[in-house]
Amino acid sequence: MPRAKHKATIFGVDTPATLLSRRLFLLGAGATLASGLFPPPAMANVPLAYDWNAAPLTDNRAGFIEWMQKQRGENPKYLGQRWDRFQALLSHHDVWDKRDMRAYLLTPREEFVTKANLERAYEWHYLDIGYGVTITGPHSVARMTNSLELQLGSKVLEIGTGSGYQSAYLANLTDKVFSIEIIKPLAERTRKLYDTLIEQGYSEYKGITTKNADGYYGWKEEAPFDKIIVTCGIDHIPPPLLEQLKPNGMMVIPVGPPGIQHVLKVVKQQSADGSFTVTRADIYNGGTLSFVPFTMLQGGAISGTHNGH
Ligand SMILES: C[S@@+](CC[C@H](N)C(=O)[O-])C[C@H]1O[C@@H](n2cnc3c(N)ncnc32)[C@H](O)[C@@H]1O
Repeated sequence: MPRAKHKATIFGVDTPATLLSRRLFLLGAGATLASGLFPPPAMANVPLAYDWNAAPLTDNRAGFIEWMQKQRGENPKYLGQRWDRFQALLSHHDVWDKRDMRAYLLTPREEFVTKANLERAYEWHYLDIGYGVTITGPHSVARMTNSLELQLGSKVLEIGTGSGYQSAYLANLTDKVFSIEIIKPLAERTRKLYDTLIEQGYSEYKGITTKNADGYYGWKEEAPFDKIIVTCGIDHIPPPLLEQLKPNGMMVIPVGPPGIQHVLKVVKQQSADGSFTVTRADIYNGGTLSFVPFTMLQGGAISGTHNGH
């Protein structure tokens, strides 16, 4: 289990800049802001078929880059940056399981950031992706994902597809990933990106099913889920999401008032008599983060948040 590193809200997701861009979006400028910034996707052409048993080298930088170039055809410049961030993830105890290390190392974060942020893809921080929202920073993604204890074959639901990076990462841990995004043009843009990446050889993303909806209500047709990961902040655990968790299923969710969330690992435990209890553990041991708000769809438009509801 990782130790808490931060009392302050540095990884998370909102800054004056992102709040400003969200305001611009609400004023109608979001579409201009969000289009044009997105990079031409799929920089790599993956030469070999995906192999669940193959894992990149983790003992040296040059060996990792060479292995990845052969297996995945990716750019050595970004592979080097991915490796350097991996070392920081290890030293901050944000990734600790071998399968999760593999998932981090196999996910090309450079494909999921905007063109404007391409050179910052592997920085610690969250980055603007347009529409007033962000791609979560790599440390938070790693710790939240590793806390989920995903097994191959687990069925996982993500609330807040955003850039698509989180679900791409999950797709290296299991072949059953479901992801919901509330912002329609963003959901469409990310779906298109997955489809392009699949064409370029990232066949593991075939395991990702997406939809545009308000994730508060989960995905009834696909429930129950072994695991749920929520990437937007809310002041309570949505009852429909808890309902859609399997017995002994697990959810990772940022809970708290706006901008001050504790990232909780919630386990829905079933006792011998069939009754359920819910346990909560703070994966940052009391540290708080700031996430994009868990917004609400009302009459087909995004209006307010689910806080207090
Ligand atoms: C931190 S951002 C994106 C993180 C994303 N997992 C990634 O890897 O880029 C959180 C996302 O949650 C979305 N979101 C907010 N409220 C939502 C809701 N009610 N249902 C689904 N998605 C929601 C936002 O639009 C935003 O894209």
